[in-house]
Amino acid sequence: MTAKFGSRIGLIAATVGSAVGLGNVWRFPAEVQQNGGAAFLLIYIGCILLFGIPVMTSEFVLGRGSGANAVDAFSKVTPNRPRWRLIGLLGVLSAYAILSFYMVVSGWTLEYFIESVTGALYEPVPGISGEDAQFAAKMSQYVQGTWSPLTVTWIMLAANAGILMLGVQKGIERVSNVLMPVLFVLLLAFCAVSLSLPGASDGLKFFLSPDFSKITPATFINALGQAFFSLSLGMGALVTYSSYFPAKTPLIKTAVTVSALDLMVAFLMGLIIFPAVTTFGLADHDLAGSSLVFITLPEIFAQMSATRLWSSLFFLLLMVAAFTSTLSLGEVATAYIQERFRLSRVKATLAVVLPLIALSAAASLSLGGVSSLSVLGTSFFDILDNATTNIMLPLGSLGLCIYMGWVAPKKFFQNQTSRGFVSSLIYRIIKYFAPILILLIMICNLW
Ligand code: TRP
Repeated sequence: MTAKFGSRIGLIAATVGSAVGLGNVWRFPAEVQQNGGAAFLLIYIGCILLFGIPVMTSEFVLGRGSGANAVDAFSKVTPNRPRWRLIGLLGVLSAYAILSFYMVVSGWTLEYFIESVTGALYEPVPGISGEDAQFAAKMSQYVQGTWSPLTVTWIMLAANAGILMLGVQKGIERVSNVLMPVLFVLLLAFCAVSLSLPGASDGLKFFLSPDFSKITPATFINALGQAFFSLSLGMGALVTYSSYFPAKTPLIKTAVTVSALDLMVAFLMGLIIFPAVTTFGLADHDLAGSSLVFITLPEIFAQMSATRLWSSLFFLLLMVAAFTSTLSLGEVATAYIQERFRLSRVKATLAVVLPLIALSAAASLSLGGVSSLSVLGTSFFDILDNATTNIMLPLGSLGLCIYMGWVAPKKFFQNQTSRGFVSSLIYRIIKYFAPILILLIMICNLW
């Protein structure tokens, strides 16, 4: 008897939990800032409609239709074409690679949560003046150290292991059912605060008025990459989760719901970030990646009343978002190893988590003390980040589309989706458009 999600709400909470993560919080606002505000938003929505939903539907079809993990799904559907399992194996590898650095960042969110609660984050650093420099100094202190980032990373890893061991219904589903509503409530609270700031309308103007002059071919590439990353596509996470979907779950409708909720979270993040940065005169700051979350936002909290409260709640939100994403990444390998080697759930989880103790430590240390963990000046951390987002995920999606469109029988796809116009449109996109576009992106990215 394979595991199943217990309820429709639970399955949506878990899948949205996978999708909503650091991609929505720290990648999306940066992309919007650099690519012409609402112009990027429009292209991004286009990418989700045209490619995100179809690829997600295909992952669901493969997972639910085979009822197997991300690797064996391929051999269940086409037993006479065993080589296609390689796409699944690439997925398991990608999961490890992403987890190695994502777990480190999720550790930082825990560190920042703790430092916000105790107030240590807001104590001045002696000898450094200027808010910006203060928080930059704090960040390097927390992030580039040796034992303290390792400790928080391992705590998050242990928490993931604990939940994964409990299994699909008692672990992943139950946690998602609690954490996802918490995340949405926190998001709405932050929206209310941010929209009532004095600079809110200027911030919204930047976010919601399109500057089409900023659009280049790279904008489309970024938007598509962002869509795939944010929707958790391309490495079997959603194949694995959908293998726990009951037979009656409508796949296209679920893909639409999950994508819409993920987009909504990104949009709400925009409503939170842009009014806040304009109000506090930080709009010219580079919002890219970690500096937004770990430097600019603390500067904003420092200027608000109830600094520690808002700061703690925000890092709690981020921690929740990251946690449910790491669960889905961990589940890919856990489900595979459990079935492949016929292990108990607990043993399979340990087999997945133990190597990550070392891998995540290497990613963490490569940012600070241990310079031998860098190649040509690029840290192991950044290598993992770039290799997964720019190469492994697009390759995984490409492989999946080709497999679904050209290798697996068309009947298999049709039987899993309710036949009709939308289903055949999605099938055509997967067969023709998506592979060409993904290839294009990969070529441009490697250029
Ligand atoms: N989607 C998550 C985010 O936005 C990250 C993530 C979780 C992911 N699982 C994934 C990305 C699988 C790619 C593939 O942060």
